[in-house]
Amino acid sequence: MLSAPSAAVVRATLPAVGAHLDEITERFYAGLFAAHPGLLRDLFNRGNQAAGTQRQALAGSITAFATHLLDHPEQRPDAMLHRIAHKHASLGVAPEQYAVVHEHLFAAIAGVLGEAVTPEVAAAWDEVYWLMANALVAIEKRLYEESGEPGPRQWEVVERVEETADVATFRLRPGDGGPVPAFRAGQYVSVRVGLPDGARQIRQYSLSGAPAETIRQISVKRVPGDGTSPDGEVSNHLHARVREGDVLELSAPYGDLVLDDAPDAPVLLASAGIGVTPMIAMLAQLAEDGHRAPVTVVHGDRSPADHALRAEHEAYTAKLPDAALHLWYEQDAPAGARTGFVDLTGVAVPAGTRAYLCGPLPFMRSVREQLLARGVAPADIHYEVFGPDLWLARG
Ligand SMILES: Cc1cc2nc3c(=O)[nH]c(=O)nc-3n(C[C@H](O)[C@H](O)[C@H](O)COP(=O)(O)OP(=O)(O)OC[C@H]3O[C@@H](n4cnc5c(N)ncnc54)[C@H](O)[C@@H]3O)c2cc1C
Ligand code: HEM
Repeated sequence: MLSAPSAAVVRATLPAVGAHLDEITERFYAGLFAAHPGLLRDLFNRGNQAAGTQRQALAGSITAFATHLLDHPEQRPDAMLHRIAHKHASLGVAPEQYAVVHEHLFAAIAGVLGEAVTPEVAAAWDEVYWLMANALVAIEKRLYEESGEPGPRQWEVVERVEETADVATFRLRPGDGGPVPAFRAGQYVSVRVGLPDGARQIRQYSLSGAPAETIRQISVKRVPGDGTSPDGEVSNHLHARVREGDVLELSAPYGDLVLDDAPDAPVLLASAGIGVTPMIAMLAQLAEDGHRAPVTVVHGDRSPADHALRAEHEAYTAKLPDAALHLWYEQDAPAGARTGFVDLTGVAVPAGTRAYLCGPLPFMRSVREQLLARGVAPADIHYEVFGPDLWLARG
């Protein structure tokens, strides 16, 4: 895909760009937000910006894309592009914004690398950027068309359920009385809220109800501060301010962690903590589809009292003809559950299992390693990260 002269230049300059990524992204975001303060206030996650996490994701994905173009010129890294495009579509990113990002990114590269950025080098990286940007724009266009929901909609909270001390479920119905298309189990919506300082911040929440229901629901864990970092803005806002009768702005459902179309394959759903949310939708979907192959459900949590949506976990598992629920709690494990972190020793992992993981990164790393050791194919292990996807950024 990359022209031969550009490929040679990108290969020669990739180490220098990679070595200066932090400085480049620092300058890029500073320039972008100085010129367009509304982007930081109303589109980008300012918590991620403050903590520095999303910065690495965007820049890292461009160098990962460049590396892929050089190593596998015949293929496109579709998994990476789709993951980003789904996130962008949920945020309503528009094609014309790519020129804005381009302007500030290339100003930052020139500012950091100085004279090393000859016209030839700039042209080669321009080619990388637009190959990636045009691929994203095309996928996003298709996602917008397929969603059947043009733009964000207002949803009324019809019920709020306190699941645990830290997790609340908001059950929602469209304020316009319009249809509620079924989503794909595992998908999330972007929720935009107005904050007291006038900012309108967006966060993603997985849909935690059954895909065919005409009410949608999200289950939100309150993220507390820890003395050095502040309380999470949107989760605390939702917990403190949003009640039955209030209205929330939601995007259409997006996200590529969805069940493979393989009705006869064994399925393993592994979650920890609030990572349970997409798993409940998947279980509901499997029950709805009458899935007959084995389903192994694995969940770890701090204690039974912290285990949100436990009743749904149990009820949907019980509806499946060949499913088992395995629980681990760090404390207060009742009879039938185990104490400690999730450990798949002794848990059946049938051949051909498709695995879906959601939870903190150390949990997913550990489960992934255990599954690989048990012979599950890497391509059959899918995951969702509840934050910027830094695995993705590392290619
Ligand atoms: C695809 C996807 C699905 C998700 N699904 C769910 C779900 O189903 N349920 C759910 O509860 N969550 C889910 N999340 C997570 C959710 O989107 C939010 O990230 C979460 O609610 C925290 O948002 P917040 O606004 O409360 O925190 P933020 O304000 O975004 O803060 C996040 C962290 O950054 C820290 N931080 C903020 N500012 C600073 C600073 N200046 N210095 C240092 N640290 C700082 C905060 O202390 C906090 O720890 C999902 C995320 C993704 C990407
Ligand atoms: C080629 C250009 C671009 C690349 C390579 C890129 C890459 C990425 C990546 C890797 C993520 C993180 C995805 C994840 O964690 O799941 C992301 C998120 C995001 N992108 Fe882009 N992006 C590009 C262009 C844009 C544009 C044009 C905009 C709009 C101005 C934009 C706005 C965002 C926002 C708001 C997020 C969410 C992150 C947050 O709020 O913290 N991106 N992008």
